[in-house]
Amino acid sequence: MRIAMIGTGYVGLVTGACFSEFGVDVCCVDKDAGKIQRLKAGEIPIFEPGLDQLVEGNVKAGRLSFTTDLREGMAGADAVFIAVGTPSRRGDGHADLSYVYAAAREIADTMDGYTVVVTKSTVPVGTGREVEAIIRERRPDARFDVCSNPEFLREGAAINDFMRPDRVVIGCESERAQEVMRGLYRPLYLIETPIVFTSLETSEMIKYAANTFLATKITFINEIADLCEKVGADVHDVARGIGLDGRIGRKFLHPGPGYGGSCFPKDTLALVKTAQDYGAPLRIIETVVDVNDRRKQAMADRIVAACGGSVAGKTVAVLGLTFKPNTDDMRDSPALDIVPALLAAGATVRAYDPEGMDEAAKLMDGIEYGQSAYEAMDGADAVAIVTEWNEFRALDLARMKKLLKAPVVVDLRNVYDPKDMRAAGFEYTCVGRGT
Ligand code: UGA
Repeated sequence: MRIAMIGTGYVGLVTGACFSEFGVDVCCVDKDAGKIQRLKAGEIPIFEPGLDQLVEGNVKAGRLSFTTDLREGMAGADAVFIAVGTPSRRGDGHADLSYVYAAAREIADTMDGYTVVVTKSTVPVGTGREVEAIIRERRPDARFDVCSNPEFLREGAAINDFMRPDRVVIGCESERAQEVMRGLYRPLYLIETPIVFTSLETSEMIKYAANTFLATKITFINEIADLCEKVGADVHDVARGIGLDGRIGRKFLHPGPGYGGSCFPKDTLALVKTAQDYGAPLRIIETVVDVNDRRKQAMADRIVAACGGSVAGKTVAVLGLTFKPNTDDMRDSPALDIVPALLAAGATVRAYDPEGMDEAAKLMDGIEYGQSAYEAMDGADAVAIVTEWNEFRALDLARMKKLLKAPVVVDLRNVYDPKDMRAAGFEYTCVGRGT
């Protein structure tokens, strides 16, 4: 089988590489000639564990190629995937679909023979139907079907999420297109992955419902964590105690500085807008968005409080800048609120992140950087753990104590055990472990 993948961003590149690993011939198409050039030279523009080997292996095997020319990409393709960006539109929070519709027009102008057009980007309900209309209008004679095939990949774990998913969702209303999609996902049938076929609208809705539910779960445990602190309970035990109930489930109940990333903030906002437009407001999700936004500022306040109520003239070492570990992605990272708030309060911020410092330097001014966690905390008045990179999980506590001017640790990801930290002589603050 052969597919074209339009867009070599995070989703397109990972999906394209994984399909080629499944034995499909994949041609990734992008307008950005520089990017295609770099990909052809074997340079991977994003940090995702395992992706470079996967790309290298499949390029060598002749199953994965890159081009700027859609015609070349789509020649003989059974399906073409749209995996372009859908950023939040400035001003109103709606998803900006201009790239998706532009891709649909180009597909219409290029299509030759029966083709399945698949939306992979996260798109509001109704977009698949609109893509269909755009193509039909330009090419009334064309033989094609539109499918929605949302991705459920987590950054940092994307390859495993693709290869061993909990489920695959395909919005597809024609037998012929279903046949093509089954063919593409054939290896997953062998490991008995549930493949859920639905209508276009239902599939689009599943994606948003999944992400907003997960964002709600995180926000729920974050608020419970705040209450745990007040009443002297331990949120980890609470999460375990409730999560063992199969109806609740244990995952996504880890409290922290608020969710970030390229998906949850954008998708929660987009669904809120869609719901308002349809006159069926999602009040729970509206509140989730609001609570999560406020939480990021509250985390800066927590660091200030741990420093005795003021950080003016003090140095705070910030460990971790990316929205989560194993990525260099800074999009909507809590650090983008926390660090500026500390700077505004008069602190010097010395940060270290294993992968995110280049990107952070483009987005925030006035930060000093260390080349290691220890360099960042050398002479600092406090250290704040903002992202739970593995290398921050086993810091040399004695060395840390020697380096810090004051033994103040604010652990926003609950990486350490409060009892151990206090026994080691730290003034330790974390999230929701009031005991
Ligand atoms: C998320 C979803 O998990 C994927 O299923 C989905 O495909 C993807 O969005 C998408 O729509 O493309 P991702 O944004 O990569 O994936 O990252 P997550 O691991 O879900 O984490 C999102 C945020 O929630 C991070 O800031 C993380 O620190 C936070 N989080 C997550 C918590 O604070 N607590 C948790 O228990 C879990």
